[in-house]
Amino acid sequence: MSADIVPDSQWKAPATDNSKESLTRVQNIIGDFDTDHTMKYYDYWSQHYEKDLEVLDYTVPDEMVTSMRQFMSDDEWKVDNFQVLDIGLGTGQMAEALKRHVNYDGLIDGVDGNEKMMEKARTKGLYRDLQQHILLSDSPMPHDSNKYDAVVCCCAMVPGLIQPECIPDMARVVKPGGVLFFTTRSTDGNQSFKNRVDAQLDKLEKGGYIEKLTTKITPQYSWPTKEDASEKQCISAILYGVKKLKETPAKAA
Ligand SMILES: C[S@@+](CC[C@H](N)C(=O)[O-])C[C@H]1O[C@@H](n2cnc3c(N)ncnc32)[C@H](O)[C@@H]1O
Repeated sequence: MSADIVPDSQWKAPATDNSKESLTRVQNIIGDFDTDHTMKYYDYWSQHYEKDLEVLDYTVPDEMVTSMRQFMSDDEWKVDNFQVLDIGLGTGQMAEALKRHVNYDGLIDGVDGNEKMMEKARTKGLYRDLQQHILLSDSPMPHDSNKYDAVVCCCAMVPGLIQPECIPDMARVVKPGGVLFFTTRSTDGNQSFKNRVDAQLDKLEKGGYIEKLTTKITPQYSWPTKEDASEKQCISAILYGVKKLKETPAKAA
């Protein structure tokens, strides 16, 4: 069954016994933490992350690929030398979703600030190159400009993690004609952060660098509030898709 999207104030932590711990781990990283704290948290969360995603019905990577397929034919993924960059790849959920939906076995690189999360992804053997790098607005990624046909960033742009001011650098590495898909939280508590995301996209759009393709609200983590799982509630995400039209400056003008 689908989950109802509720305001943050109504997350009464009413999760049932089997989802309580997982939900607590999600809630513990919702906040304006500094990078040091965030990375230490992911050192710890890496041990439970994939199990928690299962418990909390995490399907955002699948939603992202489904959304991308509305703008890209399945043949496009098979073009020779097609290249994907997964930013904040974590344990490699996006590469797995691409494999599931478009049977993608082309080139996919990843970048993440946390080695322990990437270690899990590495064992899956789906990525060509994984680089440890913390995205900050004043520290560009070590990747060439205009390189990737598709850049994805799933559930890694929220307070305490990747900041909206990194969007110009994320757009920089997309090939003109390529796409950038990413998410942020769409909860009421994330409104001012989401406004910063929208401001970055508006600047790039105004400069003629990107065309907005889509925005879609989707459940991010869902948990049962009754033992028989007849009722669920969720933390929601908003998924953005844009197409790069021309070479971008390092920062939005
Ligand atoms: C919630 S996980 C998402 C992982 C994966 N994309 C997924 O869909 O499961 C967020 C990831 O972003 C990474 N991260 C957080 N802040 C970052 C930053 N400033 N630069 C690079 N990676 C960051 C974390 O280490 C973590 O692996």
